[in-house]
Amino acid sequence: MIETLHQRRVLLVIGGGIAAYKALDLIRRLRERGASVCPVLTAGAQEFVTPLAAAALAGERAHTDLFDRASEAEIGHIKLARQADAVVVAPATANLMARMAGGHAADLATTILLATTLPILLAPAMNVQMWAHPATRRNRAILEGDGIRIVGPNAGRMAEPESGPGRMAEPNEIADALERMLGLQAGDGPLVGRRVLVTSGPTHEPIDPVRYIANRSSGRQGHAIAAAAAAAGAAVTLVSGPVALPDPPGVAVVQVETAREMLAAVEAALPADIAVFAAAVADWRPEHEAGTKKIKKDGTGPAPMSLVENPDILATIARRPAGRPPLVVGFAAETDRVIEHARAKIARKGCDLIVANDVSAEGGVMGGADNAVHVIRRDGTVETWPRLGKDEVARRLVAHFAGLLAD
Ligand code: C5P
Repeated sequence: MIETLHQRRVLLVIGGGIAAYKALDLIRRLRERGASVCPVLTAGAQEFVTPLAAAALAGERAHTDLFDRASEAEIGHIKLARQADAVVVAPATANLMARMAGGHAADLATTILLATTLPILLAPAMNVQMWAHPATRRNRAILEGDGIRIVGPNAGRMAEPESGPGRMAEPNEIADALERMLGLQAGDGPLVGRRVLVTSGPTHEPIDPVRYIANRSSGRQGHAIAAAAAAAGAAVTLVSGPVALPDPPGVAVVQVETAREMLAAVEAALPADIAVFAAAVADWRPEHEAGTKKIKKDGTGPAPMSLVENPDILATIARRPAGRPPLVVGFAAETDRVIEHARAKIARKGCDLIVANDVSAEGGVMGGADNAVHVIRRDGTVETWPRLGKDEVARRLVAHFAGLLAD
């Protein structure tokens, strides 16, 4: 995974609400992106999660008390408030927002929030009525006037039967908002606020610990699409098989080896607005799990190997009963009757669009720098593009996807 928050330090203030359990997941997401996290728990937070759990996930101690001999001697709350790149408050309860708006400094969390000059991001979480209350609206306006950023809350299912805005933003949304606040994500472009998932590269299907089945995909087109989507402002997750390419800038990369790992990583990365399946997934894998021992030559000829079919990742996601991305894009690498096969593939896989290319040996597409593609839609329309560099194909595809999403 590319570390979009590499060497950034986040002071995470966890407030006292049921969403505090999601703050634990937030610690993990921030660390995945390369950040170090210093957790601070209010007394209320400790009713929901323990400092030990926060410390275990952060890999460092969690702070809870204003007058804590150990940390006062070592660092102290003023230092805590300075030695970071940003402060994130998640969940920010109505009470915590009120205390911040009033400039209170009665415990460690509010003292840090008053003492800090760092950028602050709040992820509010509270009951719908509390969020709608004029007092909370006033406090929110005061905090925004003070330059504090707010992400969420989202509408949706909550602990109480009411529904409406109040549910804390998801950990990845908070991490994205933090990156935007720190200027680490492009702030404009047609895909700002969108989530894009891309698969890329080949998969390797182990035969034994040293041998595997693979194909010639270089991952260049998929990686270029991920980079172009990030440049267009999207939050991008790239699930990549083994490739010899650098991680594209500003993209969260999940590295996998096999088709089954790729499917699991794709499912974990959802939801997404656009899912682009550019990986050349191995269609088959050896039936028997690779053991830890190399298969030996014993002079009687090759060991028999039976193959079984891999899951079809594109079809699985395109046919998902719930949470299907609004735009699902497949690729078709064909050596003949490219368009005809691509049309059939749309119907078979249930995707919205197929990007088809001719990978016959004379084209040099596989592993090469150029690509000549046809973009085929579910309604049967075909656009045939001239031969272009893979980066340019990626830019045009991303613009095309953004246009379809906006329609
Ligand atoms: O069936 P075929 O391999 O030609 O389909 C290609 C498209 O399906 C590509 O978008 C590829 O990423 C996707 N695919 C997949 N999982 C598989 C096989 C193909 O996602 N097991």
